[in-house]
Amino acid sequence: MWRAFFVTLILALTPHAILSAKTRKVEVLYEWKQMVYGFATEEDLQDAIDNDNLVPENATPIDVAVDYHSKKGKRVFTTTPRFTTGIPYTLAVVTDKTEENGPVLMPYPDYSWHNSNGSSCEKITSVFRVAITECNQMIVVDTGVIGDVQHCPPQLLVIDLNTDTLSHRYVFDPSIYVDVASLFIAPIAIVSDPPPKGSCSKVKVYVADVTFHGLVVYDSELDAAWRVENRFMYPDPDQGLHTIADEKFIQMDGIFDLASDGKKLYFHPLASINEYSVPLSVVNNRTVFEENVEAVPYAFRRVGERSSSCAAHAMDSQNNLYFVTFNPIKLTRWSPKKPYTPKNELDIPADPKLIEFVSGMKVHKNKAGIEELWMTSNRFQKISRGTLDFNEVNFRLLRRPLDDIQKVSNSDKSHSVSVSSSDESHSESGSSSDESQSDSGSSSNESQSD
Ligand SMILES: *[C@@H]1O[C@H](CO)[C@@H](O)[C@H](O)[C@H]1NC(C)=O
Ligand SMILES: *[C@@H]1O[C@H](CO)[C@@H](O)[C@H](O)[C@H]1NC(C)=O
Repeated sequence: MWRAFFVTLILALTPHAILSAKTRKVEVLYEWKQMVYGFATEEDLQDAIDNDNLVPENATPIDVAVDYHSKKGKRVFTTTPRFTTGIPYTLAVVTDKTEENGPVLMPYPDYSWHNSNGSSCEKITSVFRVAITECNQMIVVDTGVIGDVQHCPPQLLVIDLNTDTLSHRYVFDPSIYVDVASLFIAPIAIVSDPPPKGSCSKVKVYVADVTFHGLVVYDSELDAAWRVENRFMYPDPDQGLHTIADEKFIQMDGIFDLASDGKKLYFHPLASINEYSVPLSVVNNRTVFEENVEAVPYAFRRVGERSSSCAAHAMDSQNNLYFVTFNPIKLTRWSPKKPYTPKNELDIPADPKLIEFVSGMKVHKNKAGIEELWMTSNRFQKISRGTLDFNEVNFRLLRRPLDDIQKVSNSDKSHSVSVSSSDESHSESGSSSDESQSDSGSSSNESQSD
């Protein structure tokens, strides 16, 4: 009887859900030919000009993050790291005012926060990506680097989005990074005591060091950070030559972006077609890694292989992992119920022109409780090749609500409960000597790692 019920349920839900997944478009919310920097006052504008810091052609947007739930109302943020000089501020709110080249940015929290020439480490020097938590906090990871100069130590700032004030600063110790060689580009934050019950005092931030190939773990309870290294964080030279929209470029980036299902940390180097994971319980152990940054090597696993490399990735609350492959350009998802293989890349319809090099990706729950995928695309292949044309739209912030996809994957789930034995047959090559360590409970991701 139950079986009949489920079959009916699936038949009732699936065709509609699949149909809407097919027809729903990725929305372009903001687009630029070139970044547009706005200023609150004439003095701020003049200061940027006087310091040779208003060269918008030098700017590339990297990340997007959305504040849906603070008292300030909805705000969309982006980052423009200081790959070179000429960037008046590195963290910005996107306004609805538009000029010829696109929407006008405003500095966040305000212009006085931005260390435009490296002279003040109390300010923000250069930011690649941020994380926004359920606690209405923005976690900002500042590299401290402008161009090739390490002006300041990297630091982690916690900004209260209700008040736009600094609630905590953690400056990384020289044991955690190497000047200029390290580049802290991508944080994710996991809150163990979220509201409404929790007090947001137990937050862990995981940060990718893309160029010195490491992971940094920050624990708010200890107010301490430690470094983790593993061979899987290195770029694969065979995957260092990329093609996007018929343009080839070389980018040998290591560990690039992070995601988590609450049990494991997922990561991949940019120059790689593999996805890797490690249990959070392993990397959360400060003692072990303070003794040896390369400890517990066998707890790190290859969990999948893509059809081609990708930059950013993000996971929703149902543990679907989203990413955009470079060649061909496809917005794709891996379901937690299927092995991570090219064959199981579930395409999500999207115009490839809109998603050339997705460097920033987040899942945010909106006011109505629906999860949305947010993306920044910046045609990095053109920046790398020097073929960027400012007469064209180059940079975009995009949104794709996920409720239709999640309905489908829910019905996938009820279906695969009855056929889960086929999932179990998948196995990854490599050591299984530390099985017990890598899987503490029975999780929906079991099949990816054993
Ligand atoms: C730039 O650096 C100089 C010192 O080197 C400092 O006096 C000046 O205020 C700085 N400008 C900004 C905008 O930070
Ligand atoms: C960290 O790992 C060490 C060595 O395996 C172990 O003795 C210790 O209990 C662990 N600490 C925590 C907090 O799990």
